[in-house]
Amino acid sequence: MSTERTLVLIKPDGVKRNLSGAILARVEAKGYTLAELKKVDATREVLEEHYAEHEGKPFYEPLVEFMLSGPIVAAIFEGERVIEGFRSLAGTTDPTTAAPGTIRGDFGRDWGTAVQQNLVHGSDSPESAEREIGIWFGK
Ligand code: TYD
Ligand code: MG
Repeated sequence: MSTERTLVLIKPDGVKRNLSGAILARVEAKGYTLAELKKVDATREVLEEHYAEHEGKPFYEPLVEFMLSGPIVAAIFEGERVIEGFRSLAGTTDPTTAAPGTIRGDFGRDWGTAVQQNLVHGSDSPESAEREIGIWFGK
């Protein structure tokens, strides 16, 4: 059986632009089930744990600052192959070139800021999903 859980974050740009509902609706419309949902002001500690794999990269510090710039909506979605399904729905990392039809491709672009504001985060493997769900929602 391949029922999975994934962590979805609507980043501060998505929340500020009032796109939370539109984004969640797309995930539900694809057939995934919302299991948990909350709006949070993330702490630096949570973000450093969440983005530990990127520590030391040039975009790391601006990324953490961007994620601290406003509230985040955190969700757990469930379903068969939801991890890859959500990442497909989200589109590729760079919102300027993410395919039309995806969340990043339809709602995002480069705004000339230091970090790519690409609206959403989705876990990239079963291991990172469980790790990230633990960080944002507790074990
Ligand atoms: P990454 O995990 O590579 O992308 P994804 O979110 O698609 O899994 O990177 C995490 C975030 O870091 C990404 O969503 C946006 C930001 N980022 C940059 O600002 N510049 C970059 O060159 C990369 C690779 C990521
Ligand atoms: Mg990633």
